[in-house]
Amino acid sequence: MDRRQFLIRFGAARAALAASTPAVAMLRTPPHVAQKMRVGVIGCGSVSNSYLPNLSASPYVELVSTCDIKPERAKAQAERFQIPHHYPHIDAMLDGSPFDMLINLTDMQEHGRLNRQALEAGRHVWSEKPLATTYDDGLQLLELARAKGLSLWGAPAVVTSPQFAFMARVLNEGRLGTVAAAHAEYGHTGPTWSAFFYEKGGGSMPDLGVYNLTTLTGLLGPARAVMAMTSILTPTRAVDDKGEIRVEAEDNAMVLMDHGGGTFSHVQSGFNYYDPHGHHGGLARPTIHLYGKKGNMGMVAYDWAPEGVDLVTEGAEAPERHCEDPQGYVWQWGASYVIERMLKGERSLVTPEHALHVLEIMEAARASQEAGRRIELRSSFAWPVVS
Ligand SMILES: NC(=O)c1ccc[n+]([C@@H]2O[C@H](COP(=O)([O-])OP(=O)(O)OC[C@H]3O[C@@H](n4cnc5c(N)ncnc54)[C@H](O)[C@@H]3O)[C@@H](O)[C@H]2O)c1
Repeated sequence: MDRRQFLIRFGAARAALAASTPAVAMLRTPPHVAQKMRVGVIGCGSVSNSYLPNLSASPYVELVSTCDIKPERAKAQAERFQIPHHYPHIDAMLDGSPFDMLINLTDMQEHGRLNRQALEAGRHVWSEKPLATTYDDGLQLLELARAKGLSLWGAPAVVTSPQFAFMARVLNEGRLGTVAAAHAEYGHTGPTWSAFFYEKGGGSMPDLGVYNLTTLTGLLGPARAVMAMTSILTPTRAVDDKGEIRVEAEDNAMVLMDHGGGTFSHVQSGFNYYDPHGHHGGLARPTIHLYGKKGNMGMVAYDWAPEGVDLVTEGAEAPERHCEDPQGYVWQWGASYVIERMLKGERSLVTPEHALHVLEIMEAARASQEAGRRIELRSSFAWPVVS
């Protein structure tokens, strides 16, 4: 299959997707077609150490190039993962050895611009969160992708865990009864390596809260409105790349969502959460709880690496732990997950509309803090998210 055939194939599939309103993104491709996607990875910092081993192990991925404005990082990762090309700038990368999908692992403030440049150059895009720093920019990216018959995807991939699937199924079957409320939390003491997390366009919501916002909207449906309070609790930080910096983006966030029908949920996240046991809280305890009129359930550990689901329902009142096996799920598999789905013509539970909706929620949370009021939302996505 040459590049033109490739683009026609995915272009047609993408157009079909845009024209329909499926519950999950569906891409149809004939099963006999060549089965590897050529990939370029931009941003060779911390998270690339999680992505590259996963991509290298995927039989559906051919790693073509790396790129970083710190060229020694692009070179080191290319050597470590036996990737044939490395570049110091996106222009050189796009003009260099051909590839089909850009995987964007750069600073949050760079995502929108680089994603646009890649789409304009005819590449599919998988982007770390957020897709862009504003909802309007993100929406324009999706419109550009659709117009060009390309795919745009955004992290996180929390809806692909078996624990999420279990919870979505329980809800779909009505086993909790009418859901009244849900709570989710994720925080730590903040990254120490790069300033962008704390600069304008960064913040704890797009870095951490984004996981819980994706999980709760994935389970309970699109939010109709948001009310939030955000603050900067630590006004200065010492970071490896810039030394002492002033914190410009929120590092403490409380976000309340109205899912319609009287159901509310709440996410708390931030960069000031001390936990001596680190990410998993020492114990496998639930960090996400849902309460309905006939039952309640909790996702054990964080939603990006869940370890089970505790369920209590009318008639089965002793808490039962379900779904402890990750079944191969890891949080860093988002790009290889969508690539495999694209090549096999299978449905993807991750959708760009969902990523955009979460981006609008984060923007609305900041607007709510500014205005001191409830902010209505415009966006939505196909729901329920069930396999
Ligand atoms: N670090 C993690 O564990 C982790 C986990 C999940 C998601 N993420 C997300 O991944 C993204 C990157 O985070 P990170 O921790 O790897 O940051 P990082 O600072 O370690 O790495 C970012 C890299 O991008 C490069 N870069 C910046 N602008 C560029 C440009 N215009 N062109 C090419 N390269 C550019 C930087 O030089 C740097 O090497 C963020 O969106 C973050 O939220 C990080």
